Amino acid sequence: MTWFVDKREKAPSIGDTSKLLFCLKLISFQSPLLHFWAKYVLKVVLRWCFSGAFSTPRIIMQWNQLWFVLGIGQPLSLLLKLNPAVTKLNLYDIVHTPGVAADLSHCETRAATKGFVGEDQLKESLVGADIVVIPAGVPRKPGMTRDDLFNTNASIVANLAKAAAEVAPKALLGIISNPVNSTVPIATEIYKKAGVYDPKRIFGVTTLDVVRSNTFLAEAKGLDPQDFNCPVVGGHAGITILPLISQCTPQVDLSPEKLKAMTERIQEAGTEVVKAKAGAGSATLSMAYAAARFTGSLIKAINGEQGVVECAYVASSITESPYFASPILLGKDGLEKNLGVGQMSSFEEELLKAALPELIKTIKKGEEFVAKNY
Ligand code: LMR
Repeated sequence: MTWFVDKREKAPSIGDTSKLLFCLKLISFQSPLLHFWAKYVLKVVLRWCFSGAFSTPRIIMQWNQLWFVLGIGQPLSLLLKLNPAVTKLNLYDIVHTPGVAADLSHCETRAATKGFVGEDQLKESLVGADIVVIPAGVPRKPGMTRDDLFNTNASIVANLAKAAAEVAPKALLGIISNPVNSTVPIATEIYKKAGVYDPKRIFGVTTLDVVRSNTFLAEAKGLDPQDFNCPVVGGHAGITILPLISQCTPQVDLSPEKLKAMTERIQEAGTEVVKAKAGAGSATLSMAYAAARFTGSLIKAINGEQGVVECAYVASSITESPYFASPILLGKDGLEKNLGVGQMSSFEEELLKAALPELIKTIKKGEEFVAKNY
């Protein structure tokens, strides 16, 4: 997926808002459930889109998605198409992208949308990219761990990263494909082999863990999730997901039992969705929302907005694990400053101790995969 941001003189008007509403009505008229979802997305998107920061040079973004029909790609492309900061959007996949791009292109928003299909068009789809997002690969089925996807997804991510490293080495790279704990090291090793590695530019997208924590904690407290911020550090699989509930704003006091139950729910939230989908995949809508939030933050930072902070899984020296998710300050060139894990509670320190060996093991697995195969 590719998109540009051109110079924009003024913030969108009320007219722009009603156009977006109309567009969402058009896409959702067939299903009341989708209509409900579209209204929710609209509320979020409008809040996000109209928060300013569109007045900088253009941005291009690429994304690749194999599992398209039920996957993350379609809802994510819709969310990005609705972002008024976007003027060009490329979709790459091995099937279906021309149709999806044609469909999306009828939404009356400014992003010019184009579909690229098949190996032959991969490099062309990446030309000029400023942001590349990779949600490609297969999803979990009930009973599987994210690591069980390694054998299929590792080579998919490696091949896409190889093309991105060659064609768009300066683009910011966001990786959603699981197992993120291993696919980020895989992309990194590929970039190193290509001689274009810059640790500030490669991110594992872990925003969904933050989004889930905010949602579950706000629910428990009867508050609006949008007013919540709970940092989540570590990695993006089971016990490596470490919600820092002691650092939430507003502050949350939970009994030890409730704290444990809440932490485990956040760690297993992806599995909760996999089970509920009963064989039809894993989180797509909430993941698309989270990825759109993260890419939106990258854009804001590239556009010069100050103080943009997101948690992401990045090359890191704050623990003994060479990759670690933590709050990071984003800037024009990607990661500007790693803000670390702050003061953890003793409960969280115990979680960290349990997480590190697992994290280090999955990172090595990714690194060894590239060493052996590329
Ligand atoms: C998620 O957290 O929902 C994703 O990583 C998908 C999965 O397999 O859980």
